[in-house]
Amino acid sequence: MAADLWSYVSHGSGDESTQANNVAAFQRIGVLPRMLRASEHRELSVELCGMSLPTPLFLAPVGVIGLCDPQGHGEVATAQAAARTGVPMMASTMAVDPLETVASHFGDTPGIFQLYTPTDRDLAQSLVHRAENAGFRALVVTLDCWHTGWRPRDPLLTDSPRLRSDCLANYLTDPVFQRLLPTAPDDNPSVALDTWNTIFGNRLTWDDLPWLRSLTELPLILKGIGHPEDVRRAKDGGADAIYCSNHGGRQANGGLAAIDLLPSVVAAADGLPVLFDSGIRSGADIVKALALGATAVGIGHPYIYGLACGGTDGIVNVLNALLQETDLLMGLDGYPTIADLTPEVILPTGR
Ligand code: FNR
Repeated sequence: MAADLWSYVSHGSGDESTQANNVAAFQRIGVLPRMLRASEHRELSVELCGMSLPTPLFLAPVGVIGLCDPQGHGEVATAQAAARTGVPMMASTMAVDPLETVASHFGDTPGIFQLYTPTDRDLAQSLVHRAENAGFRALVVTLDCWHTGWRPRDPLLTDSPRLRSDCLANYLTDPVFQRLLPTAPDDNPSVALDTWNTIFGNRLTWDDLPWLRSLTELPLILKGIGHPEDVRRAKDGGADAIYCSNHGGRQANGGLAAIDLLPSVVAAADGLPVLFDSGIRSGADIVKALALGATAVGIGHPYIYGLACGGTDGIVNVLNALLQETDLLMGLDGYPTIADLTPEVILPTGR
């Protein structure tokens, strides 16, 4: 990867303690084994917002994934990995290729569109309608990134306008965004980035939730929630699922590990599905998150690096490794179905 891209991808916010905690917290909890419950097969399938998925794993949205591919079309490469594995991709608003192109590579695997809500409401509606028309099956709205986090490592590199301007395909192909441009981007290449800068971050409040809900009939998933009271408000406001995440430690630093937030989020969700990401690095981590109540578990960094190393094959390799370890661990520990994994089987390791 080019230096600016690698820097942008690998570094978290602040002193990166939240990013490090996300991973370290998984070492502080372990799975209790049960014996004489061996089974030939494990049952890993899940139902999520009307989607039947063969496994509980998903590919979290990554706005620069397009650039992380050696061929420069990382959304398409990721969509092809989703098609091959049945592991759904959440396609970010920030993309090298437009969402319609990405969706055309999903095969039979459902796709999920992730909205960065722009300040222009017509543009938000247009992006969502395009996602619906392209066949996406659910909408994720990211709440924890209306402003980029404080990422002091290599600020010149990580703030690189090149990274952003290369990932504007969904905006440049949108009729509403095109109308917002003062001149044609061909005449002045920076005009698109300048315009995007004025509309990117919408400082949403709970008063905006009815409007977000009104954007689509697709299942609405709210990403970045970690407080039980926010879970209850999201549920009352018509969200179909809660997405517990701290953006992999890239946004607000000085926080708790995401896995430490999960139990109270699940309790407050009171039966609503809970998606989880931030810090998942192994099948063991997936088992722990499922036991603590996650309905589905997402990864960011692991598949970014799989893509950078080996394109679609690289992502498929990462997904297979994670899923095979999950399956084997559930077998060896005597929990053949996800329903067998309950919070009682997770104990502190004392580390
Ligand atoms: C992200 N993430 C993210 N989230 C989102 O909702 N929209 C986006 O466009 C992006 N972009 C993005 C870029 C990069 C480089 C990274 C690393 C992450 C956050 C992502 O969806 C997810 O929450 C975290 O990556 C999960 O943590 P792990 O698995 O990377 O530890």
